[in-house]
Amino acid sequence: MLVTNKEILLSAMRQSYAVGAFNISNLETFQAIVEAAKEEHSPLIIAVTPSTIKYAGLNNIVSLVMTTAKQMPLPVSLHLDHGKDVETIKMCIKAGFTSVMIDGSHLKFEENIALTKKVVELAQEKGISVEAELGRLAGIEETTVEEREAFLTDPEAAREFVDRTEVDALAVAIGTSHGAYKFKGEPKLDFERLKAIKEKLGIPLVLHGASSVPQDIIEKANRYGAKLKGARGVPEEHIRKAISLGISKINIDTDLRLAFTATVRETLAISPEIFDPRKILSPARQAMKEVVKAKMRLFGSSHKA
Ligand code: G3H
Ligand code: 13P
Ligand code: ZN
Repeated sequence: MLVTNKEILLSAMRQSYAVGAFNISNLETFQAIVEAAKEEHSPLIIAVTPSTIKYAGLNNIVSLVMTTAKQMPLPVSLHLDHGKDVETIKMCIKAGFTSVMIDGSHLKFEENIALTKKVVELAQEKGISVEAELGRLAGIEETTVEEREAFLTDPEAAREFVDRTEVDALAVAIGTSHGAYKFKGEPKLDFERLKAIKEKLGIPLVLHGASSVPQDIIEKANRYGAKLKGARGVPEEHIRKAISLGISKINIDTDLRLAFTATVRETLAISPEIFDPRKILSPARQAMKEVVKAKMRLFGSSHKA
């Protein structure tokens, strides 16, 4: 059944587990995460970015998700990831999304508040939940205390932000970043900051840029011609710790892209005679499903639906 992120995340927060928000980019990603959720009996957040809307078409995405989600016995949410403006938010709410993220993290504090408040007003009217972001996603290796203070989420500012905007969930910056190159040296997150933020806020917290960039997948991709030297993600023990300190939603995109790419490369290399797209993409879809199932177990959302 189709529900809001708020519904999914409040249960997660109360029971101290996290739910993955998995970015879809094509039919196979969508099928992989749906099948994984069914097999793991996990609630599911389907995350769609503006660039995926541009790539796949809003109506195609909404029709696909609605048809599937309405028949599923599990709670499923259709979530706009990194919405940047009110027009996109309005378009997604009208199309049937159950949750939207307004990402004003690049704006000044007051501007972020003003934009977020506007979105909350629009969304509350329709019973749609809203996620906002405060702080900038960036690694914290080789940074000074001053630099960290300038871009990581400040706990007191987060409290004021949430009080004034009434958002349902907040994405926090504690040292993660998007993509496959998150750390040059030892992976490092600011857990003390996360703890302090959690103490001040009563709403679910979100971790973006949380892919682990599994080294076996990187090696496989590189073996078949990829150039992904130095790719590195957030270790699983850091994810476990982040959940124990109060993270309730975990965004994953890169690990799906890597599993897809590594497996497509392998399939084409070992079966050069095939040219049916379904034969090329089935193993990649299976590999992504395995990644998602493992995440659901790691996050503790398996058997919570
Ligand atoms: O933060 C979300 C994604 O990893 C970036 O997605 O390439 O679809 O904009 P995009
Ligand atoms: P990754 O790049 O670590 O998968 O993060 C994805 C994300 O935050 C999507 O919003
Ligand atoms: Zn993100």
